[in-house]
Amino acid sequence: MAAIMNHTRAALRGASSASRLMAARCFSGTTLNPAIETGTAAKLILPDGKEALLPILHPTCGTDKFVDVSALYKQVGHYTYDPGFTCTSSCSSSITFIDGDEGILTYRGYPVDQLAKKSNFLETSYLLLYGELPTVSEMDDFKLEIRKHMLLKKNLLDFFDHFPTGAHPMAQMTSVVAGLSSFYPVSVNVKDVEQHRDAAVRVIAKMPMITSMVYRNNLGLPIAYPNADLDYTENFLRMMFENPMYKSTNGMNKIYTEEVYKTIAKAVDVFLILHADHEQNASTSTVRIAGSSQANPYACVAAGVASLWGPAHGGANEAVIDMLATIGKKENVAEFVRKVKNKEGGVRLMGFGHRVYKNYDPRAKYFRELVQDVLRVMDVKDPSLEVAMELERIALTDEYFVQRKLYPNVDFYTGIMLRAIGIPTNMFTCMFALARVTGWISQWAEMVEEKGFRISRPRQIFVGSPERDYPGWKHV
Ligand code: CMC
Repeated sequence: MAAIMNHTRAALRGASSASRLMAARCFSGTTLNPAIETGTAAKLILPDGKEALLPILHPTCGTDKFVDVSALYKQVGHYTYDPGFTCTSSCSSSITFIDGDEGILTYRGYPVDQLAKKSNFLETSYLLLYGELPTVSEMDDFKLEIRKHMLLKKNLLDFFDHFPTGAHPMAQMTSVVAGLSSFYPVSVNVKDVEQHRDAAVRVIAKMPMITSMVYRNNLGLPIAYPNADLDYTENFLRMMFENPMYKSTNGMNKIYTEEVYKTIAKAVDVFLILHADHEQNASTSTVRIAGSSQANPYACVAAGVASLWGPAHGGANEAVIDMLATIGKKENVAEFVRKVKNKEGGVRLMGFGHRVYKNYDPRAKYFRELVQDVLRVMDVKDPSLEVAMELERIALTDEYFVQRKLYPNVDFYTGIMLRAIGIPTNMFTCMFALARVTGWISQWAEMVEEKGFRISRPRQIFVGSPERDYPGWKHV
């Protein structure tokens, strides 16, 4: 222990470890050009006879092919139209790969189930951020850097005093994350690559305490501080659940045996790993679009938190729990499915379906087992689990869902697990954000460090009124 403390102090004294981390892997000036299929191109012939030759692009994994339309306007004076980006790639990226038909998800080439079993969230964060798994000494440096930045400054903590009682946790989180840029002007220069990694480390390090503060603030609990002897996830659990009324050593508000506590900590760590990144989803695309104007990284991450909030994205795990509660018991499932199929009142099966996965989401597959293990070890009997499994059973054999390739997504089972651990439903999206910050900041860094990156500026098809004269004073 003394050796660790000396090592910690030495590392905290020197400002060099961030630079060492930086020197280890630097992507500045990278070009991420996909391979062009040689000897062939797509030909677009317009009604006026104009022709455009459009290159075909290949990713390094999977069988998808992409038509490069970036020069279309220059060639033939036309734009493309694709609301909701259903078949448009907004960038090339080397971070996360999804094969939605096969149900494959990898981070920097490593299958997520292997990372969930064998890695931990901090190592996975390093992998996402720097592109390779760390060596032992790189990991030590990274842990120390994270630990150094976990504590929130007193005047940042004061923010929490000014939210009204019961303020939605995501509202608090969005504001506080945006506020980080005012505290760390030393890491907001988009043109300084060293500052990118500094901002990444700070935001990853501060999220556990921000998340715990959001939770504790609503319960009126006193502040819980990070502890240098605990790892990232255990620190988070301690800061969430530490209660002066209870004397348990692990900080949870129930006295768990060591075995149960370790299971919970591992489950939360796996939750963080499996939510860490998911290529160009709505919130990540929001971070990239915000960052494309050269806005600072904290502002961009705050934009990501805001985008995650909606029930079609990160808010879905909360919506799943509401849906399971509405259904109530296994016997009511068939009637609920009937309503979904008839689209009665726009009701959807929450936690089902995905823009990219047309197969079982590999994260959902992992959680399906994990949730049952966690509930068993904790000796929790949650009737929602039975309802969820019945829903899944019926949906996976029903023509409506089969035809539309609707499978459980990551949110289908996670809420049941989070609730068993003691995390309230209105904190579920914050849990997602806690994990996704790593992906957002890695994607942001990849974008701003790419050679010649440009502002994102989509076009629109205007369908409003033609130009008309302003009618004059009587309407003012
Ligand atoms: N329940 C019932 N029908 C559905 C569902 C669902 N969950 N999802 C899609 N459909 C139907 C939809 O009604 C449509 O049918 P039709 O062709 O008859 O009009 C068809 O499937 C295609 O749906 P879509 O809305 O065009 O698909 P999308 O790719 O735009 O939407 C989605 C993807 C995830 C928003 C959608 O599946 C959904 O609303 N799911 C429920 C919410 C949810 O679980 N969201 C979490 C997503 S995973 C976590 C994350 O990445 O944030």
